[in-house]
Formats: sequence, C-alpha cells, structure tokens
Amino acid sequence: MSTNRVEIFDTTLRDGEQVPGCKLDTPNKLIIADRLDELGVDVLEAGFPISSPGDFKSVEAIAKLVKNARVCGLTRAVEKDIEVAAEALKPAKRSRIHTGIGTSDSHIRYKFKSNQDAILERAVAAVRYAKRFVEDIEFYAEDAGRTDNVYLARVCEAVIQAGATVLNIPDTTGYCLPEEYGAKIKFLKENVKGIDKATLSCHCHNDLGLATANSIAGAVNGARQIECTINGIGERAGNTSLEEVVMIMRQHPHLNLHTNINTRLLFDTSRLVSDKMGMPVQPNKAIVGANAFAHSSGIHQDGVIKNRETYEIMDPHDVGVTESAIVLTARSGRAALAYRAKNIGYELDKLQLDRVYEQFLQFADRQKEIKDEDIPKIIKASGI
Ligand code: KIV
Ligand code: ZN
Repeated sequence: MSTNRVEIFDTTLRDGEQVPGCKLDTPNKLIIADRLDELGVDVLEAGFPISSPGDFKSVEAIAKLVKNARVCGLTRAVEKDIEVAAEALKPAKRSRIHTGIGTSDSHIRYKFKSNQDAILERAVAAVRYAKRFVEDIEFYAEDAGRTDNVYLARVCEAVIQAGATVLNIPDTTGYCLPEEYGAKIKFLKENVKGIDKATLSCHCHNDLGLATANSIAGAVNGARQIECTINGIGERAGNTSLEEVVMIMRQHPHLNLHTNINTRLLFDTSRLVSDKMGMPVQPNKAIVGANAFAHSSGIHQDGVIKNRETYEIMDPHDVGVTESAIVLTARSGRAALAYRAKNIGYELDKLQLDRVYEQFLQFADRQKEIKDEDIPKIIKASGI
C-alpha cells in the first residue's frame, strides 16, 4: 500500500443505521454490505453485536458474505461486548474489533464518574482482551475532539503498547474546527511513542457542518483512515460523507491522498442506501444530490452548454451520474431553451427562438419547472 493511501472505513451500517428511522433488517443490510464491498471500502463496520440479537445476526451474516473488505464490529470497553463481537465476526475472512471508551473530561466525570488513570487502565484492558480474539484491534477515544491532547497522547501510547493497530480519534460531538482537528492529529503523530506501528483514523460528526473538512484536515496531517457513511447519515447531524471525502481527494491530486473507491458506483450506492433506509437525500447534497449536476440560471446554462467545465469541477460520469442537467425555469435563457428543444427534435432559428422564448417565460412564470413534454405546447402557443 502506498503511504498516501487513505483507507475508507464505512460505518453506514453502524453509526448510520443507529439513526431513528434508518433501522434495517438482515436481508437489506446484506444488500448494502455487498454493494459497499463492490464500491471498494477497506473496512466495513457491520454493527454493534451486543446491542441486540438482530444486530448480532446481521454482523455474523455480513461476516460470511463479504469478500474483500475487513469486517468490523463495535464494542464498549467491556469484556462481554468483546466476546460477543468476536463470536459474530468469526466467519469473516478478515475481521477487526472496534473497542473504546470516552476520554474527554466530560465523559470521564459525568458518564463514568471516574478519573483519567482509571479510564486509561480500562482502555488498555479492553484492547488486551480483544487481542485474545483477533489481531486487528481499533481503539476509539470517544469525544477525542474535546479531549486534552496530552492525555489523549498518553492513552494512544498505552493502547498501542497493548496491541491496538488503529487509533480512532472521533470528534464525537462535531465541535472541532478543521485546523484544530488537523493539529490534534499532527500532535499525536509527533508525540505518541510507537505511532508508526498504528494507523490514525478520523471519525468526525457533522454538528457544525465541518465533518468533511475535519476529516480532510486529519488526512492532510497524517491520518490514513477516514470513517464515513453513504450520504453522510449518522447520529444527529450525521457523519462524514463518504462520497465527499473520496471526491475531494480525487479532485485535488496535489493532496496526494488516494482511496480504493470505485467512484462510478457512488450515485447508485447513494440511492440504494436512501431507498432502503427511507432517508431522502437533500437535493443540494454535494456529489449525489439531485441538483449536484443541474444548472438552472441562464448565465450558468449558457456556460455549461459551451463547455461543461465552466461551471462543473468534476465529470458527472465519474460519480455515476449519466449527464449534467439543464433545468428550464423562469431564470433560464435562450441558450438553454434552444438546447432542450433541440434534444427533443426542434431546431429553432434565431427569430423562432425569440418568439418561443417569449411564450416560454409566460409558461415558466406560472409553473416551477418546464419539462420536455411542455416544450411542444410552448412552441405551438408561439404560433410557429
Ligand atoms: O462518534 C463516536 O465517537 C463513535 C464511536 C463509538 C466510534 O461513533
Ligand atoms: Zn460516531
């Protein structure tokens, strides 16, 4: 693996699925897991096996099904959780246990009523215990975003010594600014003894709309795994969106960060997850929203018709969208109308276009969008 390869850890079926309304049964989880494997995710977090018998069954079935990705199960730093996850993951070709504990002052004081030393001991014990079952152990320091960096470094160092292979640095509450989160990763890279033996991972939530920016800042500063979900679904305002981080790395080659994702499957995968979970994708969602490659203002349409690159920074085919859309509204210009009319067989000369455009504006002021089937009616109404 090139040192600048960023592994994609997909948690659609764990952090994404825990959202109210997104719960799936095992057959539907298998359909999504199969697609994520085809998409090229490196790690697939299949669920939280101790949380319910249904989730255990799903993780076990996904572990049996998945051919390429490493299958991962979440646990708390609790022995029973770890045993159950190990059991569910047994059929996997390659598996990972994801264990951890809250490390911020607020988690230590209010959730655990404990202290830093005792939490560090529990973290180490959990990793050691998990190591009895599988080789690959990811440790999460929950609320790392609000954890003091010096203490966080102590925890990371101790869990690496205990056998952790991946260190997840979650911004659980989505609080960090990109430079702050990037600096945290840099600090750990520079201050944790043995850090070269482990991979740093970004797990960012989107409470302030910064999950994607924070994850990229993490990767720029040395993290080599990003945890994300399709369509950015997840707790509260969601997780980092897989399609966004993948396309940012692809569209900015100077970052020299690469993933293994087959980007041409992004749009279809987004729709699959949205349909199965009953969770609509907002039309203006980056990369996969219905309007991500739709142009509606006259100035933009004129530019795109002349050359797509005037208003598009990526080729829609690269993300599995068949073509850019020229949407006809009252803000559209003659170029867009002529283009859409030509597409359905009407070649209009300049004078004809002027007349049809006048009619078009009247129609367009009455309805939100003009569809192909409206165009013949508009041409007829213009008297040509
Ligand atoms: O956001 C978070 O901290 C998590 C952990 C359980 C990894 O989802
Ligand atoms: Zn999370």
